[in-house]
Amino acid sequence: MGKLDNQPGRLAGKVALITGGNSGIGLATAKLFAKEGAKVVISGRREDALKDAVAQIGNGADYVLADAAIVSSAKKVVDATVAKHGRIDILFLNAGVAYFLPIDAIDEDHFDTQFNINVKNPFFTVKEALPHLPEGAVIISNTSVVGQKGFDGTGVYSATKAALRSLTRVLASELKAKKIRTVSVAPGPIETPIYGKLGMPEEAVQEMGAGFASQVPLGRFGSADELANAVLFLASNDGSFVNGVELEVDGGLSQV
Ligand SMILES: NC(=O)c1ccc[n+]([C@@H]2O[C@H](COP(=O)([O-])OP(=O)(O)OC[C@H]3O[C@@H](n4cnc5c(N)ncnc54)[C@H](OP(=O)(O)O)[C@@H]3O)[C@@H](O)[C@H]2O)c1
Repeated sequence: MGKLDNQPGRLAGKVALITGGNSGIGLATAKLFAKEGAKVVISGRREDALKDAVAQIGNGADYVLADAAIVSSAKKVVDATVAKHGRIDILFLNAGVAYFLPIDAIDEDHFDTQFNINVKNPFFTVKEALPHLPEGAVIISNTSVVGQKGFDGTGVYSATKAALRSLTRVLASELKAKKIRTVSVAPGPIETPIYGKLGMPEEAVQEMGAGFASQVPLGRFGSADELANAVLFLASNDGSFVNGVELEVDGGLSQV
């Protein structure tokens, strides 16, 4: 049975900052958070997509135009959120890129781009956000099943996600004085626009996608909404004793 209309949402009164909230998993999560009563701020690079996303999210959502590849953007995004809402209760480190190349084809740019966006930005976003995270706040990192499996061509991308997973563990201990929970969500293959941005020919993407789906015990891609449901669990009081872990939301792919 769904919640009654006159009941407060599961995130009523909470302030959520979601990096990369104009698309895919970030957007689905932002919409769900707002529906559950949170005040949401999203970041991203494409202003048209951000404006469109904010209109879809509702509940007074706002956006910050910021390129996660530039380290100062972490401060910009945090400062804008705090200027508007005074604090951050839920920090969803979601912005990320995925580029797949075999090891003999990678170059420094392939490495640096992914590490700057997927690792350096979350690290500095946490650092900037820390003074504004009240006791009981939660930090959620979007990692990936690739941190647990060895898929061809994902050497650098997998390493970025493994780094984030490690950060989650360390912060669970480092931030214990403020009773801040830090968790990761590890998606399996999820149907989002990211597959159009891999830098691979469409045919190769289709083939790779079919390969992924066939390895998932549930036999399919997940949806961004299914991911958002798991992130809501981790962000809300329902996940109040879940800390330091990585929650796989992958149809069982990591377990077989
Ligand atoms: N889809 C999957 O199968 C899957 C599986 C495992 C993990 N993940 C992880 O899930 C997260 C979200 O991905 P998604 O699948 O939802 O893909 P998506 O639809 O492409 O969303 C990626 C988001 O990250 C933002 N972003 C990327 N680079 C950025 C930058 N330099 N500066 C600011 N924002 C940036 C994008 O904003 P702009 O469009 O404005 O750049 C977008 O909002 C990523 O961390 C990804 O690694 C996805």
